Amino acid sequence: MLDAQDPELAALLERERQRQTRSLTLIASENHCSPAVREACSSVLTDKYAEGYPGRRYYGGCAIADQVEELAAARALRMFPGMAHANVQPHSGTSANWEVLSALAGSGGRILGVALAEGGHLSHGHPVSHTGKMFEVEQYGTNHETGLIDYDSVRDLARKFRPKVLIAGASSYPRELDYAVFAEIAREVDAVLLADIAHPAGLMAAGVIGSPVGHADVLTMTTHKTLRGPRGGLILCSEELRKQIDSSVFPGGQGGPLMHQIAAKAVAFAEALAPEFKTYQQAVKDNAAHLAACLAEGGMKIVTGGTDTHMVVVDLRGTGATGADVESRCFEAGISLNKNMVPGDPESPRVTSGFRVGTAAATTRGLGKDQFAELASIIAEIVRGTDPASLKARVATLCDAHPAP
Ligand SMILES: Cc1ncc(COP(=O)(O)O)c(C=O)c1O
Repeated sequence: MLDAQDPELAALLERERQRQTRSLTLIASENHCSPAVREACSSVLTDKYAEGYPGRRYYGGCAIADQVEELAAARALRMFPGMAHANVQPHSGTSANWEVLSALAGSGGRILGVALAEGGHLSHGHPVSHTGKMFEVEQYGTNHETGLIDYDSVRDLARKFRPKVLIAGASSYPRELDYAVFAEIAREVDAVLLADIAHPAGLMAAGVIGSPVGHADVLTMTTHKTLRGPRGGLILCSEELRKQIDSSVFPGGQGGPLMHQIAAKAVAFAEALAPEFKTYQQAVKDNAAHLAACLAEGGMKIVTGGTDTHMVVVDLRGTGATGADVESRCFEAGISLNKNMVPGDPESPRVTSGFRVGTAAATTRGLGKDQFAELASIIAEIVRGTDPASLKARVATLCDAHPAP
């Protein structure tokens, strides 16, 4: 239908489909959701307004929307047993963080999170984000020798700053976090502990790495990274915080929920509850460990010396290449990855001294250890300065053998 009605847009979508199929995504925050998730995203619910919550809507005709939202929330809680309440309405991870911080820190309240340059996310208090403007912010970082979170400095800062919300979570930190230590620090300074698990949510839902449940008061996440669902956000919290969080999402931060996306979240959560998801997530984790080992064998310096998750961060200092160089040369060869700051990076965020890769999307396409070893060898060649055009055929062979869903 789209071809006939809007060939211009249809052609763009086809070009994007081909781009995704003919290249390999190693961007750690991306994945390929299932056709069933995509179908729900484009379903009739795209037309439905449902401001409010199930049973308490500001529009008529919401009986089915209510059931869809309740189904998504119930499945979310089954993914993370131990949490009391799920709000499935946040439009994105950033919205979820903004809504939780507004609810729990209050306007001008104090928040403490990881700095962007140290692996954190904009929505944890960076000056360009509303979270950096509307709250009083202090940020912690990593030990620049080891690349690991410096828990002693988190404790010291928390004691001095006394935040209302302590944020544990990052965008480019390849290791598991010690949520028990974060919880102890939060308790000591009377802060709420927010665990932002946007990246590792899928690994945690499958139980292949530890989760913050039992330690954190609130969890925020995106549904489209390792969790492999539609683009969107999700908040899980204790019963005690339910009212504050719900009213901060609606009417505080958002209007009508995106019911088609919520339907697609429900589909993705059911997929995450199936036994195959655990097998998939174990493969994501094993592939990342193998990729890190192969990159190290190829002469790359791996930040923190390895990974516990789906993500590997490489420090390019001493190779003569910058993150921006490697990103653009890999793109020419058919691999998408992103430049990334590394601990103590002297370069600007537009250049950087490192890059970040993740295994979630390529593992969805069925790549295993041998194929990740091949990718590591291609990337090492690119870092050494080999012409990317000469490596294109090797990437194409991997793509042809492993079509995107
Ligand atoms: C840790 C973390 N939190 C929040 C977000 C924001 O998610 P979104 O892009 O959906 O706003 C991201 C996205 O990369 C993230 O890595």
